Amino acid sequence: MKELTDRIKNNGRVLGEGVLKVDEFITHQVDPELMDAMGKRLAEVFADKKITKVVTIEASGIAPAVYAAQALNVPMIFARKSKSLTMDEELLTASVYSFTKQVTSTISISRKFLSAEDNVLLVDDFLANGQAAKGLIELCQQAGASVAGIGILIEKSFQDGRQLIEDMNIPVVSLARIASLHDGKIIFIEEDA
Ligand code: G4P
Ligand code: NA
Ligand code: NA
Repeated sequence: MKELTDRIKNNGRVLGEGVLKVDEFITHQVDPELMDAMGKRLAEVFADKKITKVVTIEASGIAPAVYAAQALNVPMIFARKSKSLTMDEELLTASVYSFTKQVTSTISISRKFLSAEDNVLLVDDFLANGQAAKGLIELCQQAGASVAGIGILIEKSFQDGRQLIEDMNIPVVSLARIASLHDGKIIFIEEDA
């Protein structure tokens, strides 16, 4: 998606160790106009899949997920990383290992929000190693829900996430695909959605 790759070129910054900083418009400060356009684009791609819910994980997955959900006219659910005081219901839970932080955390969604009737679109800001996505897929499976696909803003194609998800026969659509971040330079894979 040209608006996104242009914005990454203009406002993204490469940090050491293959990390892309996009806090000017995605992960901290949010550009609603761009986020709306990206949500609409993901909704368009999955328009004929009969999506019933959009599912993401807090925190920075929420903005793209809510715009995609609005465009699909369905609810958005975000998995929590820590237990909320008011979450007294039965929970779906999964463990997520972060290679970056080298810690395992538990993510959860109240059982009442996902059922076997649901056909889910997963949305996230980044796809790196795919561990967060894998955790979200597990939550959907526990509920008996189907996962129709995953929509990502920025895929780091030099990490293993896409392969991990595709091996589960789940289609991955990324609005920007980054081939490498060597020497402070951002190289895109040019067949962006
Ligand atoms: P994985 O889920 O793909 O396995 O990712 P990993 O453990 O490597 O990354 C953990 C966190 O870092 C995730 O956010 C993920 O979205 C984010 N992330 C991964 N690569 C990049 C990157 O190059 N740039 C930026 N800005 N973020 C990246 P999180 O910390 O769990 O959540 P959040 O609360 O920030 O949303
Ligand atoms: Na993040
Ligand atoms: Na995220």
